[in-house]
Amino acid sequence: MPDPRDPRGLRGDAPLLDAWLRFTAQAQDGALTPMCVPGHKQRQDLVGPVVAGDAPLYGGLDTIKHADALREEAERRAARLWDADWCRFSVAGSTHGNQALALAAGEPGQEIIVTRSLHRSLLLGLVLAGLRPVWVLPDVDPVTGLPGPVPVAVVRAALAAHPAACAVFLVDPSYVGTTGGLPGHAAAAHEAGVPLLVDAAWAAHLGFHPDLPPHAIAAGADAMVTSAHKALPAYTQGALVLARTGRLAAARLDRAFEATHTTSPAGAIMASIDAARALLARDGKELSGRLLRGVAAAKDRLRQVPGLRVLDGPGVEPAKLVVLLAGTGANGHAVERDLIDAGMPVEMADRDTIVPIVTLADDETTVARFADTLAATVERHRAAPRPPVPAAAWTITPQQALPPREAFFSSNETLAADAAVGRVSAELVAPYPPGIPVLAPGEVVTSAAVDALRTALADGSRIAYAADPSLATLQVVVRPASIRAGE
Ligand SMILES: Cc1ncc(COP(=O)(O)O)c(C=O)c1O
Repeated sequence: MPDPRDPRGLRGDAPLLDAWLRFTAQAQDGALTPMCVPGHKQRQDLVGPVVAGDAPLYGGLDTIKHADALREEAERRAARLWDADWCRFSVAGSTHGNQALALAAGEPGQEIIVTRSLHRSLLLGLVLAGLRPVWVLPDVDPVTGLPGPVPVAVVRAALAAHPAACAVFLVDPSYVGTTGGLPGHAAAAHEAGVPLLVDAAWAAHLGFHPDLPPHAIAAGADAMVTSAHKALPAYTQGALVLARTGRLAAARLDRAFEATHTTSPAGAIMASIDAARALLARDGKELSGRLLRGVAAAKDRLRQVPGLRVLDGPGVEPAKLVVLLAGTGANGHAVERDLIDAGMPVEMADRDTIVPIVTLADDETTVARFADTLAATVERHRAAPRPPVPAAAWTITPQQALPPREAFFSSNETLAADAAVGRVSAELVAPYPPGIPVLAPGEVVTSAAVDALRTALADGSRIAYAADPSLATLQVVVRPASIRAGE
């Protein structure tokens, strides 16, 4: 008789899940009088079931003195699955993973080759680590207005021009699922004697089915960050950082990881990463097959809608469903509102693009229902077709005036946005999703960036992280910190 709390029988291969099941059963049976955190003491009569299932890693899944051994066993199993030799589970998302890798990559002041279509978490990682970005840009497809991978030749040229750079840090797949070139990037980085680090936040499922691309480590990367809570059925915030330690040192990776990780990791999140890994190891091929069939059927269905396009082809991760609306004239923000009303929130919508996330947890029925609802919604909002306009996030050509860290810590002043043009941004401003900064600390505020942000705001996008999300004002650097220091 399978345990209903472990419906697929994963606990035998998932030590953290097994520990969570034991601890929470004990708590449920009233067999615990914990004299340690968490403060809810497993009671649900104070704030209610919002704390149900909460168990700390330390002092919950195992005693404080022994939990590390348990965690290490689970992380070893994940490292083996991804063919890595170092792995850590994070309860703080790929955000933390990106920052951990930035802190492990080099020394303050050193250059690093980084894609400018990076997530804001990595930009802040550069601030924390004091690394100076050498930006490389992805190609943008003029037909779809969406980014592809950064060409290998561009990374090679950047490495040649910046021989002291400490690493190459790319995002693959992109937010819209475009992918490619990792073996070439790995070769270029390795010939230059530096590691290739990959933010694969959306790609925890890659590599476990013959019709899916290999994961970044298999493609030659030295390290990858991935969100277990995005593509895998894990708890929100769960993420993995995986590395091969030839060009990266395990002790430094550990130091960097611990620097900004909580000292109180949630056992439920850790256990769910472990369980998702065990599921992927055993059933990944079967579940990926179901995912691929569902997405392929949805693409076929959506292609029948006049004017609607789906992103597809050799450079696109086949489990990704990205819907291009421009040919239907429908506005993505209006379509999104109807989908929310229908109980089908999507991951991202801007004027021209809808990005639903389909995962191993979906089956053919859920994806088909979504495709039908989307098709009907598009009909309701159909208007004159328009050419797609690439979103601000994909078209930034940054002018770096100061290193991000220096700008971040500089004195700043608040100016009317038009008056800020030509000055150096002190803040990070990103339409979110996708969370790619259009303005970043240290970059010159251009009228193109301000216009692009205003357009995104007027279209209905959420403008995140700006001190003034209405964009009436922007925060700019008064003077560089280095000048002040020298006074
Ligand atoms: C490319 C990329 N990297 C990192 C992250 C951060 O992931 P998390 O939300 O797990 O912290 C995101 C989030 O959307 C992302 O799109």
